[in-house]
Amino acid sequence: MAISNPRVTLTYIKWALLVLALFAHTCNGFYLPGSYMHTYSKAQEIITKVNSLTSIETELPFSYYSLPYCKPPEGIKKSAENLGELLMGDEIENSAYRFKMNVNETLYLCTTHPLTEHDVKLLKQRTRDLYQVNMILDNLPAMRYAYQNGVKIQWTGFPVGYTSPNSKDDYIINHLKFRVLIHEYEGSGVQIIGTGEEGPGVISEAEKKKASGFEIVGFEVYPCSVKYDPDTMKKKSMYQSIPAVNCPSELEKFQIIREQEKVSFTYEVEFVKSDIRWPSRWDAYLKMEGARVHWFSILNSLMVIFFLAGIVFVIFLRTVRRDLTRYEELDKESQAQMNEELSGWKLVVGDVFREPDSSKLLCVMVGDGVQITGMAVVTIIFAAFGFMSPASRGMLLTGMIILYLFLGIIAGYVAVRMWRTIKGTSEGWRSVSWFVACFFPGIVFLILTVLNFILWGSNSTGALPISLFFVLLSLWFCISVPLTLLGGFLGTRAEAIQYPVRTNQIPREIPARKYPSWLLVLGAGTLPFGTLFIELFFILSSIWLGRFYYVFGFLLIVLLLLVIVCAEVSVVLTYMHLCVEDWRWWWKAFFASGSVSLYVFLYSINYLVFDLQSLSGPVSAILYLGYSLIMATAIMLSTGTIGFLMSFYFVHYLFSSVKID
Ligand SMILES: *[C@@H]1O[C@H](CO)[C@@H](O)[C@H](O)[C@H]1NC(C)=O
Repeated sequence: MAISNPRVTLTYIKWALLVLALFAHTCNGFYLPGSYMHTYSKAQEIITKVNSLTSIETELPFSYYSLPYCKPPEGIKKSAENLGELLMGDEIENSAYRFKMNVNETLYLCTTHPLTEHDVKLLKQRTRDLYQVNMILDNLPAMRYAYQNGVKIQWTGFPVGYTSPNSKDDYIINHLKFRVLIHEYEGSGVQIIGTGEEGPGVISEAEKKKASGFEIVGFEVYPCSVKYDPDTMKKKSMYQSIPAVNCPSELEKFQIIREQEKVSFTYEVEFVKSDIRWPSRWDAYLKMEGARVHWFSILNSLMVIFFLAGIVFVIFLRTVRRDLTRYEELDKESQAQMNEELSGWKLVVGDVFREPDSSKLLCVMVGDGVQITGMAVVTIIFAAFGFMSPASRGMLLTGMIILYLFLGIIAGYVAVRMWRTIKGTSEGWRSVSWFVACFFPGIVFLILTVLNFILWGSNSTGALPISLFFVLLSLWFCISVPLTLLGGFLGTRAEAIQYPVRTNQIPREIPARKYPSWLLVLGAGTLPFGTLFIELFFILSSIWLGRFYYVFGFLLIVLLLLVIVCAEVSVVLTYMHLCVEDWRWWWKAFFASGSVSLYVFLYSINYLVFDLQSLSGPVSAILYLGYSLIMATAIMLSTGTIGFLMSFYFVHYLFSSVKID
């Protein structure tokens, strides 16, 4: 009945199309994004776009047109967006600022109606919260340079307004001076023409001219505030030329934000020829001083790794040596010594593969951990090879989500195979698969929903539109869940891993410890954290302070090191526990490396308190903590899984390589 209703059917079709569009978008994104070189001919119109207003103080994005800015004559249109952009609260729209390629000009835009009390309040608040306008031209964000104590610093975007240091007045930025760097090109068109027998030398001048054009290789903005006489300005029409504007330096000549005040907006643009080539136009945005810091972080991790690798090596040496040199051949003294060394773990042979507590949860968490780890590794490899440049806003996040959805098949497989190994039967695999499909996404959705209610309350564009929420839900249930179930089914077909030793009927008593073993497990997490924390600082700054993160090559190395450290830490800890006859190693192996997430979460709280001091208001703080919690959970599942799987392999190896007499 519901389907026969045409409106409902239409909605279904709309949804299907939306999901399809999202996919088409993603596929597009895997071409080098931002690499569609656009060539403009002289005087060709170029339209700028605006993204949401952002502030590093509040982290709540707002729509550009929530402020009384000039609207484009053809109306406001949203730019095509991808899932990641939507999730990040981006809202890209066309703007009224437009240029003609290689034509320097100064133009009048519009004059607002007299500002109302509401406008004034909003403008003042956005100014005081240090909101900034983010403009985009040909996919490049507007860059602003300024000198502070003689040091050149760069930002992207420009502020909404200024606050005077000594009075209560605020001033709106209403004049923008754009500098567009262009590269004149006589390029690829010629190559095609010149592939004939005549060789490239024979191209006529006319042909050369035809192929020439301009590429945009830089976009800078110099904002200022100018008091105009609104009555003379109002007589002008939009995009009418006006004489050059001199930016004043005295506050009296600034445009104040006050009730009944009419604000005129103007802009000027100059095109400057540049030697920057199109492929390297992003370099200016990515200039970073800290390569040495990243190397230091890697060196740091390497030291941890070698230290742990040494311990692992010694452990293996012992077991292997015992296998090779016959026990009887050793002299009495070494025999006794070795006996003592080996006695611990040898004694738990009948218990080491005993089913752990909450074995189902362990299987589910390992399944999800494999999924997250796979997603992270593939995304970072893609990013490291430049497939996701900062030019493609939101691409990284979109790619991650799509990957996550499809890796469900592996998650289901791993979880069910482990379940079979532990239980000896594949009974109950359906419920394991369902839990795998719902455990981590469920946590994320729960947190996102709570955050969204908070954001809706504050009218930020950062809130996910309800429609997007349903798209995410349908992606989850239409792709991830079926694939996880399929993976689980394949898991039931796969052979269960055979334990090398038999488990006794009666569990062995675990001798009392001097200190609780959980302390050791928590302490172990500091080692992987040591390899991670420097890189973490850069990642957090890129997320929360809007800095560009581009050192994905470094991140890839750090990730590999992290995997090694997690594996080593868990193996060493498992061995230590087995040696003191504690055979409950399953969860300890998981949390030995998984506990790194606790430190990550504490670190992000520390970052909130000390580096994001400016973050104002409880909404922003809750938002931040919510996202940090998601991140920490993902890290726990991922690192825990790595540690657990490696420990499982190790225990299996340990007990199968040594014949217990
Ligand atoms: C525009 O202005 C810039 C900087 O003043 C100058 O270098 C450039 O030649 C001008 N372009 C045109 C087409 O006049």
